[in-house]
Amino acid sequence: MGETRLPLIAEAPTTYEPLLSWVEEVAELTKPERIHWVDGSEAEYRQLTDELVIAGTLTRLNPELFPNSFAAFSDPADVARVEEQTFICSKNERDAGFTNNWMDPDAMKEKLTGLFDGSMRGRTMYVIPFVMGHLDAEDPKFGVEITDSAYVVASMRIMARIGSDVLKKIEETRAFFVPALHSVGAPLEEGQEDVAWPCNPEKWIVHFPEERSIWSYGSGYGGNALLGKKCYALRIASVMARDEGWLAEHMLILKLTSPENKVYNVAAAFPSACGKTNLALLDPTIEGWKVETLGDDISWMRFGKEGELRAVNPEAGLFGVAPGTGWGTNPNAMRAIAKGNSIFTNVALTDDGGVWWEGMTDEVPAHLTDWQGNDWTPAISSAAGGRPAAHPNSRFCTPIDQIDMLAPEYFAPNGVEISAILFGGRRKTTVPLVTQSRSWANGIFMGATLSSETTAAAAGAVGVVRRDPMAMLPFIGYDAGDYLNHWVRVSAKGNPARLPKIFLVNWFRRTRDGKFAWPGFGDNSRVLKWAIERIEGTADAVETPIGFVPTADSLDLTGLDMTEAEVEEAVRFDADEWHAELPGLEEWFARFGGSLPKSITAELEGLKSRLS
Ligand code: PEP
Ligand code: NA
Ligand code: MN
Repeated sequence: MGETRLPLIAEAPTTYEPLLSWVEEVAELTKPERIHWVDGSEAEYRQLTDELVIAGTLTRLNPELFPNSFAAFSDPADVARVEEQTFICSKNERDAGFTNNWMDPDAMKEKLTGLFDGSMRGRTMYVIPFVMGHLDAEDPKFGVEITDSAYVVASMRIMARIGSDVLKKIEETRAFFVPALHSVGAPLEEGQEDVAWPCNPEKWIVHFPEERSIWSYGSGYGGNALLGKKCYALRIASVMARDEGWLAEHMLILKLTSPENKVYNVAAAFPSACGKTNLALLDPTIEGWKVETLGDDISWMRFGKEGELRAVNPEAGLFGVAPGTGWGTNPNAMRAIAKGNSIFTNVALTDDGGVWWEGMTDEVPAHLTDWQGNDWTPAISSAAGGRPAAHPNSRFCTPIDQIDMLAPEYFAPNGVEISAILFGGRRKTTVPLVTQSRSWANGIFMGATLSSETTAAAAGAVGVVRRDPMAMLPFIGYDAGDYLNHWVRVSAKGNPARLPKIFLVNWFRRTRDGKFAWPGFGDNSRVLKWAIERIEGTADAVETPIGFVPTADSLDLTGLDMTEAEVEEAVRFDADEWHAELPGLEEWFARFGGSLPKSITAELEGLKSRLS
């Protein structure tokens, strides 16, 4: 092969044939001007970001405010994940299930091959070796992303462990790697000038679960383009997890230490933009309890030698929704961001070279440049119907080790034992502040029924209630019924005495007059404390048809400015609302067809009979 190798490939820093052949094949197809093997070094990062500043993709922020940090502004049509254009191309349509778009893999490859043909012309093709999780994990999960976007390279360096060490380990262990191919789909013809945010109106985010590969075309935005994150660590990894007997979940992980110095690790699944980052970085408002962060988006969980469920965060950075993250609501995230080394996307710029977004500070700046480059003042904004300065799905991309409250166990390759799992959504009604499941099986059922009002994290209407099983609706890489079955089956590996307890939570319930029924944020520590006391058997609860809800006086309300009646409104089970919920649940589960686990059907029947 050496003789016939493209000259571009001859420079490769590896002799690992499976990688070389793939890189060569991609180069032949996409026809880049040059190939850059990403080593992950500081110097390389400096050079890439310098180039991106010259190209106009990045704006360097004032280093006194945000050292080594940049702002990017996307094409206004490339601001979120595109679920309609996201495909699971399993061999059989049945294996993609009703929650995914599907196309025959050969037909899809043919289509994509046409689109990728020459798609990197005039551009640099970057080869990024990466590992999700720890390089020295028992079974490290490797990937290589090929991309024609330097913004993607710079962002991947924050979000994952990338570069030479990873490449060396792939080569030494002759490891399998997920080939993850990305192009913004904007080739440059001879003499053609580039734009600041190249992308293509046509977008395809495609997964081939059997061969464990990813092809992403047309978008430069986060979840569509940083392929280690949603595409690999959730969609492809969920398929690996099914086949290998573990769980790849859309969950934050936090470490809670009680006043008695007992440690409890909690994993919590919430849909995008529902406060995972805020909960993961929470400052408890109750005395003596300490929270440390392990992860804010993805949890890979497997059963340990004693049947305990262990979780690791496979990521190295935060890709958080900026609006609503502020000095008042999440000072720990703000401190991490303020250390610098961050890339912001679609936020607003302040006149002194910093960034701003809605909710960052109580005081709204008098003048900003909005995410689309327009002058923005409070007056201009209100004249435009409250037009925000930052895009509602604008993001901060920040190294996780800048979090002061990062738990040391973040660095442990085999993770931490999980004591409790929370499932949460954004619901104005029906779902109480917290409900403990009746059993593990009932907890899986709770996860399967999870629902939320849609947010700006995905393109489409905002505020519509949709079912979002385990907050994985856009991320399950296979049939949704098989996915629930996998949860049921994999738990058999667990020691029943050490299975986590499962809770359904809702920070977003409204009172009859439309206000939030619960203050949320740091006060959610009161709910965590109750959950732990339920595990320890020391907190009271009321048994209801949906599970165990707190009595108003079983929650620690010390220092909380709420009447008992107000707390009651947040925690109460409402039989009428649950009767109204049932038809939606039946319709939802009917959509699973034959693959719905029997235990879920049994749980639904149980709920119906308890409600009648
Ligand atoms: C994204 O949308 O790019 C993303 C990373 O995920 P989420 O929507 O869960 O924040
Ligand atoms: Na990194
Ligand atoms: Mn997410």
